[in-house]
Amino acid sequence: MTTTQTLIDRALAAREKAYAPYSKYKVGAALLTADGEIYEGCNVENAAYGLCMCAERTAVFKAVSDGVREFAAIAVATENGGSPCGSCRQVLREFAPDLTVIITDAAGNFRETTLSQLLPDSFGPEQLSNSE
Ligand code: THU
Repeated sequence: MTTTQTLIDRALAAREKAYAPYSKYKVGAALLTADGEIYEGCNVENAAYGLCMCAERTAVFKAVSDGVREFAAIAVATENGGSPCGSCRQVLREFAPDLTVIITDAAGNFRETTLSQLLPDSFGPEQLSNSE
């Protein structure tokens, strides 16, 4: 199986775990690290709506909190092939400006793009004089 198909399958599996009782819009993500590991994430909503967390950021925060900061690709699965939100694009850009982004619907119909296409002329750590 190709890496792309593996990521799509893992994003679809992660989507099954979404906690989205308010929007009913379930999202799954599968984030491929430079070492070939995959971190899954799903959206986690809250009765205080402003606290809802997206699937992509769940996956990034899981990886970074495990000490992993280098990423090659992410697959994002929704019912209708929705594209990652602006907040998630910015969080992904922090660690992986050249990330491959695979966007799939629930049936597995997908398209492939890049983070730099989704977030052109972006702001990042290089702009800050005190970045690591
Ligand atoms: N959502 C994500 O998980 N990722 C995105 O990129 C867009 C939106 C979630 C947040 C919320 O739980 C639901 O989808 C509807 O906005």
